[in-house]
Parts: sequence; C-alpha cells; structure tokens
Amino acid sequence: MADIYRFGISLDRELIEAFDRHVAAQRYQSRSEAIRDLIREELVRKKWAEGGTVAGAIVMTYDHHKRELVNRLLDIQHDFHDIIISTQHVHLDHGNCLEVIAVKGQAPQVDQLSTALKVLVGVKHLNLSVSATD
Ligand code: NI
Repeated sequence: MADIYRFGISLDRELIEAFDRHVAAQRYQSRSEAIRDLIREELVRKKWAEGGTVAGAIVMTYDHHKRELVNRLLDIQHDFHDIIISTQHVHLDHGNCLEVIAVKGQAPQVDQLSTALKVLVGVKHLNLSVSATD
C-alpha cells in the first residue's frame, strides 16, 4: 500500500458546508475520498491539456442502416489501430449499434480519433471518458 500523507486544509464555513453537501450527495465515505477524486480529476484534466498519455473509452451509438457509415467507422479505427486496445460492438436493436472502444495513447491522438468518429453523419451520441495512466 502506498504511503499515506495527512495535511490540514483551511476553508471558510460556506465552502466547507457546500463541500459537505457534495460529499453527502455523492455518497462519499469521507471528505478525504472526495478530495482524492477532485485531485485525480484535476491531474487528468492537466494531463489532457498538456498532451500526456491517457487511457479511456469512447462510447458511441450509431445508425446501423447507414451502410457507408459502418465502412467509415472501420476505416477510421484502422487508421488509429495503434491506440485502440479493443472494440466491443453491441447490436442494440434493429437499427442501432453501441460501440465501446478502449483506447490508450497520447491525448491529442485520442482526441483526434474521438472527433473523427463524432462528426460522422449517423453517429447519434459519442462520449469520451479518460483517465491518467500513472
Ligand atoms: Ni450492430
């Protein structure tokens, strides 16, 4: 287990009360756990901005009946094969597909892949979720 460091934080009453409401609403076990998440999120955001290595998932839904779209999606994924770890395809219903693409690579490349997929006609929704790898 990693070493644990403790430190004190000074906050005005209004801010700590608002934070405690956040902690309760999110069902955190403690303020420490909530603060840990905030720090991690900020570090991932910073890494994203600086262009470091990130790992994550692209979750998207699209119209299965747009035949050209399926080919475009495959072409783009082959173009980015070096950052795609795996792809899971789910046939949601007669007309819709769900795809979950696990990625790991430099932030700008991951962003490029995500944008290339998102702008295609027939892609109904796309969400990119990333984590830092360290
Ligand atoms: Ni399908």
